[in-house]
Amino acid sequence: MARVEGKVALVTGGASGIGLSSARLLAKEGAKVVIADFNVEGAQQAAAEINAQGGEAYGLFLDAGDESSIREAVEFTVKHFGTITVLFNNVGLTNLQKDLDVVNMDLMEWDRLMNVNLKSVLLGSRFAIPHMIEAGGGSIINTASMAGFTGDSIRSAYGASKAAVVNLTKYIATQYGASGIRCNAVAPGLILTPAAKNNMPPQVLDIFAKYNKLPYHGEPDDIGYTVLFLASDESKFITGQTIQVEGGHYIANPSIPDFADFMQ
Ligand SMILES: NC(=O)c1ccc[n+]([C@@H]2O[C@H](COP(=O)([O-])OP(=O)(O)OC[C@H]3O[C@@H](n4cnc5c(N)ncnc54)[C@H](O)[C@@H]3O)[C@@H](O)[C@H]2O)c1
Repeated sequence: MARVEGKVALVTGGASGIGLSSARLLAKEGAKVVIADFNVEGAQQAAAEINAQGGEAYGLFLDAGDESSIREAVEFTVKHFGTITVLFNNVGLTNLQKDLDVVNMDLMEWDRLMNVNLKSVLLGSRFAIPHMIEAGGGSIINTASMAGFTGDSIRSAYGASKAAVVNLTKYIATQYGASGIRCNAVAPGLILTPAAKNNMPPQVLDIFAKYNKLPYHGEPDDIGYTVLFLASDESKFITGQTIQVEGGHYIANPSIPDFADFMQ
């Protein structure tokens, strides 16, 4: 039997990158999938590819910053596939121009990122949970980020929103575990999505590579397989956790090279 046979998944931000990889892998392993994205053409194209390979998928417009749009995506999933048992709250935004340090950041951008990155997780879960309870359980997976575990010179709103996603994950797991609903998050380090590849100069990628403990970059499928695992019953005793998928980038004490120099 396929790994998520019989499950019904809604993947937000599924037209590209991490969401697209996850939607493809969930469909390949037997789930029915709704791919919801601002980029509706991309979502529909991804669904068409899945359907052409014998899977079952729909592509749908979603604005993750809008409550009624999130509600409609959940209702669409239930209407077309009868239930929703996997929710991947994956949409997240960052803005290097406006999301700056605490003194200089644009407060409208703070509100926008909190709305899209954090409130969308609350709302998607709020609308899906009653259906999951009716179905006898489900798995909610949220995309956090390693930026939620560290400090940075800029991206204060992004980091704070992702840290809040990590903790909201525990609250959802605590509140609905008794109904058989699990809630976990995945925290990616740098993942070479098409957007990351196109937007980052090679020098920036080299800096990342220098601090990875593994000699390669992360790819969308590295997150997709983690999402597949968390969606499947293979992870049925895991809840409230955030799995860090980051190539060991953040695991070591950063002062080690200085101590190594000192010891010599
Ligand atoms: N790529 C990385 O290195 C990385 C690292 C850490 C965390 N993340 C997180 O992973 C998630 C996915 O990012 P990605 O790298 O795959 O990005 P991506 O740009 O490849 O894909 C994001 C998708 O979300 C869609 N989207 C954007 N805003 C939306 C909105 N308001 N409503 C609906 N859809 C919207 C886009 O159209 C796009 O298809 C985000 O939450 C991001 O913060 C990514």
